[in-house]
Amino acid sequence: MNAFLQDNAQDIAQAAQLLESGEVVAVPAETVYGLAGHALNEEAVRAIFEIKGRPLIDPLIVHVHSLQQIEELAIIDTPYFASLAQAFWPGPLTLILPKKAVVPDLVTAGKETVALRMPAHPLFQKILQTSALPLAAPSANPFGYISPTQAQHVADSLGDKLKYIIDGGASQEGLESTIVDLSKPNEINILRPGPITQEQLEKCLKTKVNHLKVFNKEQNSSGESAPGTLIKHYSPRTPLTLLSKDSSERSRISLFEKNTAYIQLFRHGEVPQQFATCDKYWLSESNDLREAAQNVFALLRKLDKQDYSNIYCEQPKAEGIGIALLDRLTRAAAQ
Ligand code: TXA
Ligand code: MG
Repeated sequence: MNAFLQDNAQDIAQAAQLLESGEVVAVPAETVYGLAGHALNEEAVRAIFEIKGRPLIDPLIVHVHSLQQIEELAIIDTPYFASLAQAFWPGPLTLILPKKAVVPDLVTAGKETVALRMPAHPLFQKILQTSALPLAAPSANPFGYISPTQAQHVADSLGDKLKYIIDGGASQEGLESTIVDLSKPNEINILRPGPITQEQLEKCLKTKVNHLKVFNKEQNSSGESAPGTLIKHYSPRTPLTLLSKDSSERSRISLFEKNTAYIQLFRHGEVPQQFATCDKYWLSESNDLREAAQNVFALLRKLDKQDYSNIYCEQPKAEGIGIALLDRLTRAAAQ
């Protein structure tokens, strides 16, 4: 049985105490739910990897509530750090910096850098403040499956491996944080697109920010991408196919297949005629791509529980938040 903890002083104190004693607790973030443990306690970190079934080569993000904690964990030798922290923290941005020795190699998978984030979710903040611990937290999904944006999603897919889940409602952003690498001397690279867009970063820093992560089917996890960002990820068990507006794939589908779900981006968007008689779902009521991003993982989880043999989804344009949404959908659709 899972224990769902709530936003009250007693439950927050209990969560903080569990974390201090090395337990792993699922926590709500504004991006997706996380599987949190004391980042400087190797036993707790090992338990995170085990619960998630995650390979040890894939490093974790460390969450903090103060800049002072960052100084204890990382070397800040770039002026870009202060600008980004001031503009986007607390919020859905993760920054990669050279690490200090206190951060266990297990957390960073042996890398000389550490990923750091100050989350905006008020309940996650209260837990960070009350425990006063840096918390390592990957998304609280089994490795490779769809990320969780509600407490119930965590219970559905990890409930037998984890006792405590803190319920902070549905995640507002619905996609994982943008990851920006600040550890290279003369370049700034986005390793994972997310809610903070390339345009926002460039506007803040008044310099070029590279986008190394592309949603190209040939790309693998080697090279400059975040080590864990394999092409196949966030995947439902039901096969998912993305359809662009002018896709040749779209014209090749002559008849809708039985038991097919069709996901449109916007409720009032056009539905290709082949899907006219399929069950139709949409990601946004109001032509809003941010709303679509917020809903995408929850809808994929919901459809994956039903017995559809195929899910088709309209492909978003690679603009603004659409870049992150397209990245997740492309990975979810990868074979
Ligand atoms: O929004 C989020 O970032 C959520 C919430 C819980 O904060 N967390 C999250 O964690 O998405 P996770 O573990 O699912 O994804 C973290 C990504 C992985 O792809 C990992 O490879 C990358 O961050 N990463 C972590 N440390 C890194 C490092 N030192 N260098 C490069 N990439 C790193
Ligand atoms: Mg993840």
